[in-house]
Amino acid sequence: MNFDFFEPRDGQLHAEDVPLARIASEFGTPTYIYSKAALTRAWYEFTAELAGRDALVCYAMKANSNLAVLNTFARLGAGFDIVSGGELTRVIAADGDPRKVIFSGVGKRVDEIALALHHDIHCFNVESLPELERVNAVAQGLGKQAPISFRVNPDVDAGTHPYISTGLKENKFGIEYGMAIALYRKAASMPGVRVAGIDCHIGSQLTDVAPLLQALERMLALVDALGAEGIPIHHLDLGGGLGIRYSGETPPDPRAYMREIIRRIGSRRLKLMFEPGRNLVGNAGILLTRVEHLKTASAKNFAVVDAAMNDLLRPSLYSAHHEIIAVSPSDVMPQRYDVVGPVCESGDFIGKDRALAIREGELLAVMSAGAYGMVMSSNYNTRPRAAEVMVDGATPYLVRRRESVAELFAGERILP
Ligand code: LLP
Repeated sequence: MNFDFFEPRDGQLHAEDVPLARIASEFGTPTYIYSKAALTRAWYEFTAELAGRDALVCYAMKANSNLAVLNTFARLGAGFDIVSGGELTRVIAADGDPRKVIFSGVGKRVDEIALALHHDIHCFNVESLPELERVNAVAQGLGKQAPISFRVNPDVDAGTHPYISTGLKENKFGIEYGMAIALYRKAASMPGVRVAGIDCHIGSQLTDVAPLLQALERMLALVDALGAEGIPIHHLDLGGGLGIRYSGETPPDPRAYMREIIRRIGSRRLKLMFEPGRNLVGNAGILLTRVEHLKTASAKNFAVVDAAMNDLLRPSLYSAHHEIIAVSPSDVMPQRYDVVGPVCESGDFIGKDRALAIREGELLAVMSAGAYGMVMSSNYNTRPRAAEVMVDGATPYLVRRRESVAELFAGERILP
């Protein structure tokens, strides 16, 4: 497996140079743990082939928006792909550069557009005619011109889970391919917007580059057609979507993917942009949890752990598979368990039918939890959200303290 920065040493699972058992005793469980070295390596792998080119990689921060994660990428020179005014505020709080921000999403509010204009973001990825009209109006009202690109739906099948597939005609995302030229003509005539680029994003956790390259070809055809109409396209944003290895997958190599894109772009003068989320953070994080009970029923064994679907929703929502590893070796025989949380839902599970040699009270590491883990967590069952720790070499830093129960209802009031 490629969990390089989360490996056993003397049988004890570590995050870089820190034993996970030490993190559990210092910060408790459940806790998300990120490796700074793993984040950094993922960044360099993604960007290596882009060196020396006009390119901007905007980390899709919806995957993991902890300030320490954002700041790590900001220091490496990343831009950010945001989907809300809240995310923009986080970028600024993490010392990111708002001028390297692109704003995606189908439902941008007026105040969010104004905030983004105020901070001179790099580009708005516009997803409909009413949104174009709104961006134009807000920008004019502020005496500004908004840089825009259209998110064009290339109508290709990403071949991934239907909930995270976005590039087909029936998805809510983007403008229809056949409408693109007409909308660009319209945008070119509007005083409050300036046509900057073109963009697409066809889905997430793609393990085959073929659909991504098919989308690229369709985008390039539009770039050429628009150029011929006198509407120059300055940047091409190919979105995110590059998958990672959760267990048996063989995800595309980012370097080979980049080389192929560069080859196909040929002599066109286009700034290249990307919006990777999962690829940069997925394998750089784990969720550490403790076994509360081992419960045996006639049909099944259950390992009841202190993390639940409110901490990591992916298994419940997408039937996603995350490897689960015992942190310390145990002298007991392995048995098959459903690893479940304490939440009152049958859909509350972290993994099914896993062979584990464990005792009550021991620690388990849920792997590849750096993307769409903490960000999708909730307080269901009045469960405080997990702590987050980032490890750098031999030092664990608490990058978000565990919530207290009192905080969870601090904003609530009873009637007089
Ligand atoms: N750009 C846009 C416009 C997006 O909608 C997304 C993800 C990305 C970039 C980043 O995609 P990535 O590189 O991470 O594949 N919660 C789901 C994934 C939802 C993805 C939503 N959009 C999961 O846990 O699998």
